[in-house]
Amino acid sequence: MTTERTVVILAAGQGTRMKSSLPKVLHQIAGVPMISFAIDAALALDPERVIVVVGHGRDQVEAAVRARFSDRVVFALQQQQRGTADAVLAALPQVPATSREVIITYGDCPLVPGAFLQKLALARSDREALMSVATARIDDSTGYGRIIFDGNSTNGARNILAIREHKDCSEQERAIDVINAGLYAVDRAFLDSALSKIDASNAQGEFYLTDLVALANRDASTRTKAVELRGDASLLRGINDRAELADAEADMTEILNDRWRRAGNTIARGARIDRDVELERDVTIAQGAVLRGRTRVASNTVIDVGCVLDDAEIGESVTLKPYSIVTRSKIGARAQIGPFAHVRPDSDVAEDAHVGNFVELKKTRMAKGAKANHLAYLGDGVIGAGANIGAGTIFCNYDGFQKHTTTVGEGAFVGSNSSLVAPIAIGAGAYVGSGSVVTKNVPDGALAVGRARQENKEGYAERIRAMKKKPPAKP
Ligand code: UD1
Ligand code: MG
Repeated sequence: MTTERTVVILAAGQGTRMKSSLPKVLHQIAGVPMISFAIDAALALDPERVIVVVGHGRDQVEAAVRARFSDRVVFALQQQQRGTADAVLAALPQVPATSREVIITYGDCPLVPGAFLQKLALARSDREALMSVATARIDDSTGYGRIIFDGNSTNGARNILAIREHKDCSEQERAIDVINAGLYAVDRAFLDSALSKIDASNAQGEFYLTDLVALANRDASTRTKAVELRGDASLLRGINDRAELADAEADMTEILNDRWRRAGNTIARGARIDRDVELERDVTIAQGAVLRGRTRVASNTVIDVGCVLDDAEIGESVTLKPYSIVTRSKIGARAQIGPFAHVRPDSDVAEDAHVGNFVELKKTRMAKGAKANHLAYLGDGVIGAGANIGAGTIFCNYDGFQKHTTTVGEGAFVGSNSSLVAPIAIGAGAYVGSGSVVTKNVPDGALAVGRARQENKEGYAERIRAMKKKPPAKP
């Protein structure tokens, strides 16, 4: 039988230790706001509703979450951050009447997988307990709530008597190395009745959600009160400052990379693949490559050392040689890119095309099999199938006021070191002589030569040498 449930994600806190004007839960991990991972984990439970409790920086948090999850989450406003129990209280009116269980998590714990929340719910329901609490054993428990066990267990899960916050702990209690991770599955009816009983009579003058455990143990029913689900400390930890943010990002990178490896791709250690990137299969990614945004990569493509892809769409069997950059552009099947190529936004490189070293494209389409193998700037261009663009070619697209288009017809050959002054069209099959400055359209099949004519002066080299050897004239 499935239990109807709601997930409440706490994200109203300020995150003081981040020392940032950006709300903590919006700091990015793997290219997305960290709260996205908590929401993903919540949605994986297929709950009736996901409620995000917002407060500090609420407008920013709501906008960012809406942009990503639209109406799959709702928000509850906690006016003042008076503690974790007060935050859940703010969400309570939005928990549907049909929900019989509430899962509570934090927006700043991105490494917690959905499967763990599932286990947390099972830990409770298997024992018909009022609540289950995620715990972890850690070396330095400073700052965390400590778990106080009652020495008994229910079906293999230890019973919890209370959670004592660090500041309220006695000397002996501080020595406890099992901490409260801050994730709970709670019986809905119990939560409703217990929350209003929590007061702020503690060292911090806050409404502690952790008091739920002691309240459960005072419950008159014969049900199991609170049980433990032990988790992996490295996945349950929250992020409080930017050093922890960097650690979590490194761990998340390995988690995501491993997922792609298991799906049949070769991913070197030290490659970075953002959360929203998609790979088909048999993709090879070398160390130092960074795939950002909504980049898509088709099968059998090789992305070599140091490449940076941002919102790129890469076809199959493409080779991206080292240190190439592709931004918001498309690369067709079997194309060869780089090394050191720069494909700037709105470019479209068709199948079998070559973009070689130190070639920069901007808003340029290259049709099938077109080649620009070395040292070129091709901006606002439309290059026909099989055309060859020589080394040093420049599309002079900007006159200081406006950008203009350069069209190179199918099969045309642009000789090295030519400047094509846009707007301009080179006809299909046409030739442009090396070193030309082309300012007039070139008809199909024509040869354009736009450079100073060469002159040879027979014997002149000898005369120059003789002149140089003569001693300088006395003044
Ligand atoms: C809390 C637990 C502690 C546990 C630790 C694990 C309590 C009283 N203590 O302590 O036992 O070991 O988490 O990380 O719950 N929040 C709100 N509104 C508030 C206060 C907090 O939304 O009024 C949110 C924060 O944004 C954050 C989360 O709740 O995401 C936890 O708050 P925080 O202040 O970090 O609690 P801790 O003191 O770390
Ligand atoms: Mg905290």
